[in-house]
This record gives sequence, structure tokens and C-alpha cells, in this order.
Amino acid sequence: MRLDRFLSNLPRFSRKDVRFALLADRVKVDGRTIRDPLHEVREFSEILLDDEVLQIGKPARYFMLHKPQGCVSATVDPEHPTVLDLIHEPDKHDLHIAGRLDFNTSGLMLITNDGQWSRRLTQPVTKLPKIYYIETEREMGEHYVAKFAQGFYFAFEDLTTQPAHLTLLDSHRARLSIVEGRYHQVKRMFGFYDNKVTRLHRESMGPLALDPALEPGEYRALTAEEIQQI
Ligand code: URA
Repeated sequence: MRLDRFLSNLPRFSRKDVRFALLADRVKVDGRTIRDPLHEVREFSEILLDDEVLQIGKPARYFMLHKPQGCVSATVDPEHPTVLDLIHEPDKHDLHIAGRLDFNTSGLMLITNDGQWSRRLTQPVTKLPKIYYIETEREMGEHYVAKFAQGFYFAFEDLTTQPAHLTLLDSHRARLSIVEGRYHQVKRMFGFYDNKVTRLHRESMGPLALDPALEPGEYRALTAEEIQQI
């Protein structure tokens, strides 16, 4: 397919935008800046606009991992095991994590080489609910529920968190649904009450739930149906 046709098929581009993007040297195909609108691209050509991957150029891969506690959500770490150490796949350094978890948080982690897919999953505008199971050091009260729905002011980012849905399971256990993924978000929300989160486990991200057949540390490829749900 011609490069200009590939670009103008994307909903965000008019034909005029395509011409400007090419003339401004914003488009790279397989690592080379291309200005020629007639340049032929194939299914496995890597196509970038600035640094954004429009087509990944390699077969896309998607995995669901049951992240255990005590491992880092990074691809390399000098001290601790990383989630990528648990993945036994060729070219695994092409993979990235869609939505990190803290060192001692367990649960659903999605790993892929498809940047557009992971962006859809994690970008705040999508507002995909992420569901966490939580245990706390101190007792929780009914008044927590309204406060989580109302939002917490995070001074560092100068924002108030989006309405979150807290369900109390008993005095020290709850389930929480949040649509954002701010740094240490859940712990900081409970920090408002000076209540330490002692156990945090992500059960689902949008329509994708952790497969109960996966033990901590195990992973599997997503099915075609799961991939399409995002
Ligand atoms: N919120 C946290 O505080 N930690 C996580 O790992 C995920 C959400």
C-alpha cells in the first residue's frame, strides 16, 4: 500500500495533514525518514509518526502475567527480579508493560510489543476501570466509600482523583475500582486516612480479568478475542 494511503486511512489524518507530516520529516518507515507519499509500505513495515508507533512492523504479541509480589515492573533492574525475567519468549526485549504495579503488588499485568494497544489500555481518556483487591492495616469505615467517590486531592500533581468505587468486604478488606493509574495511587488514597495498604492485588483491567488458572509468576498469551476487546 502507498504510504499516503496508509496514513490517510487513520481517522486522525486528512489528506492535507498527511502531506504536511511527510514534508515535516515526521514519518519514518523501517528506521528511515520518508517524504515520498508513493513509498510502498507492507504489513510488516514499521511506521512511526514522531516517536509514536503507527504500525509495529513485527507480528504483535500480547501476554497476561500473574505478577507475583517481590518483583519489579521494569524490563531491567540491577537488584531485583523483573517481570520480564518471568517471560520466556524470543525477542522479549521488544516487549513492554501496559500499566505498572509496585514491587509488592500482585495480579494482572499485560505485556505486549504493540504500543497503540497498550496506549488504549492505559491512557486516562479511555477511563478503563482497574479493579484491585485490598487489605489494610487499620480498620476501614463506611465513610471511606463516599470519600473515594468524591476524590482525593493529590498536591504533587495538583489534581483531584476521578470518582472511585470502593466496596467494603469487611473491616480490613475491600475491592476498589479506579479509572486512572497515578503513581502509587491506591496507597496514596488510603494514605489520606493514614491507613497502610498491606496487600494489593490487581484483578482486572477493563474487560480483561486475571486468569484464575495462572499461579503467581505464570503467564499465557492473550486470545484473539481478548486482544480485540481493548
Ligand atoms: N496503586 C498503588 O499504590 N500501587 C500499585 O501497584 C497499583 C496501584
